[in-house]
Amino acid sequence: MVKSLPTPEPELLKEGVKAPVQETLLTPRFYTTDFDAVALMDISAHETELGAIVNELKADYNRHHFVRDEEFQQTWDSIDGEKRQAFIDFLERSCTSEFSGFLLFKELSRKLKNRNPMLSDAFNCMARDEARHAGFLNKAMADFNLSLDLGYLTKSRTYTFFPPEWIIYTVYLSEKIGYWRYIVMFRHLEAHPENQFYPLFRYFESWCQDENRHGDFFKALLRSQPSLFNNWKARLWVRFFLLTVFVTHTLTVFERVSFYESLGIDAREYNKRVIEETNNTSARAFPAILNTKHPEFFRRLEECSDSNLQLTEIDNTNRPKIVKILQKAPHLLSIMGHMVKLFMLKPIDAEATRAEVH
Ligand SMILES: [Fe+2]
Ligand SMILES: [Fe+2]
Repeated sequence: MVKSLPTPEPELLKEGVKAPVQETLLTPRFYTTDFDAVALMDISAHETELGAIVNELKADYNRHHFVRDEEFQQTWDSIDGEKRQAFIDFLERSCTSEFSGFLLFKELSRKLKNRNPMLSDAFNCMARDEARHAGFLNKAMADFNLSLDLGYLTKSRTYTFFPPEWIIYTVYLSEKIGYWRYIVMFRHLEAHPENQFYPLFRYFESWCQDENRHGDFFKALLRSQPSLFNNWKARLWVRFFLLTVFVTHTLTVFERVSFYESLGIDAREYNKRVIEETNNTSARAFPAILNTKHPEFFRRLEECSDSNLQLTEIDNTNRPKIVKILQKAPHLLSIMGHMVKLFMLKPIDAEATRAEVH
C-alpha cells in the first residue's frame, strides 16, 4: 500500500534560516572514523588503479558545471502548498547528506596530508565536489526563502564513529545509490520535461558523474583490502549494509510520495529501480549482493514502510508517551522481523560472477 503523510511546515532557527530536522535513524548522518588506521592502510596492491581515479578527480570535469543560469532568475511562488514543503524537504535532506560527505572527506584529507598523500588528494577532490553539491542545493533552498546554516549544522550534529571498514562499505554504497537516485530522476525528467518544475534537476546528469567517480574510488580502496571481501565476515557485513541502506531508502521514498508524484514519478517504481541498480552495481565491489528478484524482497521492504508510516502517525498524535510506546512496539517488532527475514534470504555470490561484471 502506498500512502503519503503531509510534509510538516519548516521550523526556523532565525528569519530565513531553517532549523535542521530532528535527527532520527532516517536523517542523513555525520560520520567520523579512526584516521590513523586509514593513514596506515596498505593500498599498494591497487595503487595504479587508485592513482588513475585520483587523476580523474583532479581533472575536475565539473568545475564549470555548478553555475546557476538565467532560468533560476525568477520567483518560485507558483510552487506552493504540499508540493513546496515536499520539495524543500527533498532539498534539505540532499543538502545535509552532501554536506556530511564534505565534512568527512575534508577531515580525512587534512589528517592524511603528510602520511598518505595520494589518499589525501583524493579526499580533497571529493570534499571539493561535495561542497559544490551542498552549496548548490543550499542556493536552491534560498530561492524558497530558506537556507541551512551549515556552520551551525557542523557544530550541532552528533557524529557517529564508524571504523574505516564500515566507512568504506557505507560511503561506497551511498555514492552509488546517490548516482542512481540522481540519474533515474534525470532520465525520467528528460523523457517528461513537462514535469520539470525547477531547473535544479537539469544539473543531475553531470552531477551524478561526480558521485559515480567517488563510488569508483571507494571500490578501488575496498578491493585493495582483501580482508574486506575474502572472508565470511565480510560477506555478512556487506549484506547487512546493503539491507540497511535499502530499508532506509524505501522508508524515506515512501515518506515522500507527494514529492515524487509532483515530478510524475511513481514512488514504488522509483524505489525498486534505484535499489535493483545499486544492488547490481555493488557486485563489482562486494563479495555478495542481495537477491532483489526474490518474491519476498520488495514485499517485505514495503511492509517495513507501512509500519514506519504507522509509527509516524502515532508520533503525531497527542496521546500520552506510554500509550505511544505501547502502540509503536508491534510496528517496531514487525520492521525488525522483516529485516531479519530479508537478511536470511540466500544472497548472490558476486565473486563467482566477477569475471562477467567487472
Ligand atoms: Fe555529492
Ligand atoms: Fe559523492
